[in-house]
Amino acid sequence: MVDDEKVIRDILCEFLALEGFHVESVEDGEKAIERLKIRQFDIVISDLKMPNVSGLELLERISEEKIDVLTIIMTGFGTVETAIEAMKKGAYDYVLKPFKVEEVVRLLRRGLDTQKLKAENIRLREALTLYRVSEAMASSLEIDQVLDVILRATLDESEGDVATLHLEDPQTGSYIERIKLFGDDSEPVPDAHMPNLEIDRLRRQFAQGLPILAHGRDAGQFFTSLSSKRPLISYVAVPLQISGRMIGMLNVFSFTTTKRFDEGERKMLSVLASRAASAIETSRLYDDLVERNQELSEANENLEDNYQKTVLGFAQALEESDRYTRGHSERVSGYAGLLAERLGMTKLEVRTIVQAGLMHDIGKIGIRYDMLNKPGRLTSAEIEVFREHPNKGRRIMAPIPCMQNLIDAAWCHHEWFDGCGYPRNLAGDDIPIQGRIVSIADAYDAMTSDRAYRKALPHAVAIKELLRCAGRQFDPELAKTFVAVIEEFRKTAQNNGQYNLIPL
Ligand SMILES: [Fe+2]
Repeated sequence: MVDDEKVIRDILCEFLALEGFHVESVEDGEKAIERLKIRQFDIVISDLKMPNVSGLELLERISEEKIDVLTIIMTGFGTVETAIEAMKKGAYDYVLKPFKVEEVVRLLRRGLDTQKLKAENIRLREALTLYRVSEAMASSLEIDQVLDVILRATLDESEGDVATLHLEDPQTGSYIERIKLFGDDSEPVPDAHMPNLEIDRLRRQFAQGLPILAHGRDAGQFFTSLSSKRPLISYVAVPLQISGRMIGMLNVFSFTTTKRFDEGERKMLSVLASRAASAIETSRLYDDLVERNQELSEANENLEDNYQKTVLGFAQALEESDRYTRGHSERVSGYAGLLAERLGMTKLEVRTIVQAGLMHDIGKIGIRYDMLNKPGRLTSAEIEVFREHPNKGRRIMAPIPCMQNLIDAAWCHHEWFDGCGYPRNLAGDDIPIQGRIVSIADAYDAMTSDRAYRKALPHAVAIKELLRCAGRQFDPELAKTFVAVIEEFRKTAQNNGQYNLIPL
């Protein structure tokens, strides 16, 4: 309610308050503009003739500033001409003084209905845009893509020439321009001619909940510099907030003389910004997750690598001490891997078998070299020492957490399928699969390589022996499969039947 006459202001305010309206009153146009810039009002009722800024000037300013409000003019002159002029300048309607309060109330109610309809239209448009943008944002977790979608929508909705998005750098707390986009029909503005944002000023404004929508020189307060080469026509900025914390801001600039942003567009952008903020947060969280995952898997690879080298180191230690078994562990490991693969085991299971093969005789470490390789028969005491190696293998690996799943091969590779093996006389399926596999691979390699007490047997003889002992010493199914796979392998192997170790 704008009138320089206090009596009229008071009477009207009182009446309207009784009718349930929320009313504020000021005495001239200048003060009215100030209030309108800060708060959203539905309707302005203004006197025409006032000191400072008149009713007609107020109408002009409202339209210049693109303030979204209906204006009803009161005129005491009673001339239709002035009323018509006011209507031309954008007034919604007019009342002639002296007026009846009911008349004003009726006019206000009609005005509010109009405003409501307009607001509904805006909401519908907002809902559609947001739906479109949300869909696009949801389909992408890549932050750059999300930002691109946000800025495209911003430019589409505001018809601005340039849009920029600043994000807070969580480390330094400063705001950094992450992306800049030009409207489809806009001429690109060189960086040197872009206004420089006064970030602190903008932050303070946002912190106080004040909207940022300014035109021409008025917008200068938000910049450290404005280029005269490309005069800024209109500027709107909205904060990106996540549960009250400002994570960035969205800025839109118009350099087109006919394009001034209005309050409706500002509101639209601020709704868009709230969606954008959560999309950005989601994709940041996602990025963090991806990064963490990468770090973890690198650490894991390191661990894995260390582990492989440890296993190889153990196997190496064993082979160093015994020239006859040199290469034995590696070949057993290879044969065992081949059989495991053929049995349809998973990659991880195969790899475990390969490692277990390398470690199967680790219990022989410390057994005297000359005893292991002496020609002729072992004494019963020597046999006892030798037969202890599966148990010793288990004892060596038992305290090492990452070697737990290699123990079965070392412990059980001398068990026999019929229960006549050692050290525990396990039989059939009671012998862990690792033990049954490595037992076959071990026997085949032992037969087909030179020993201190005999020369290597031919492949065919070794195969015959494996099949002969199937069901007694070896798991019959596994022995058959092994024979098939080793025959096949020898046919296809380029290097003379030498088995290449499955890469760990
Ligand atoms: Fe052994």
